Amino acid sequence: MDYGKLIEEALEARKMSYSPYSQFMVGAALLGKNGKIYQGCNIENASYTPTNCAERTAFFKAVSEGTRQFEGIAIVGGLENGISQPCAPCGVCLQVMMEFCDPEQFKIVLAIDREHYQVYTLKELLPIGFGPDNLNV
Ligand code: THU
Repeated sequence: MDYGKLIEEALEARKMSYSPYSQFMVGAALLGKNGKIYQGCNIENASYTPTNCAERTAFFKAVSEGTRQFEGIAIVGGLENGISQPCAPCGVCLQVMMEFCDPEQFKIVLAIDREHYQVYTLKELLPIGFGPDNLNV
């Protein structure tokens, strides 16, 4: 997986962030096993709770276009003036990842820029997750 390319795509996606309430701009780039990259940004709402995170935007775009198998996701987030630290996915987004990804294989790239990033597996960020397998016992 080309982490640099995925980070670039996440930085591009972040430019589309609609975040007038928090001013916290997040971008994500999700790599499908088909080789396609799905970008997502956070989309806020005056009623607050309908807000959608960048990661879920990317997942829902991909799934709605027929892709359900994924290699990894790059995430960048920070206030309008820049990105100062890694932005980890929220619990709701980790749960959405749990639905479609193998926790031991799926890579989550938390980036500041192309050269500065950390890579985790989904299992590392959600060690005992509840997923589709739990319903098949
Ligand atoms: N947010 C994301 O889009 N992804 C994350 O990983 C963390 C938080 C968004 C939600 C909200 O629009 C803003 O960041 C502040 O929480």
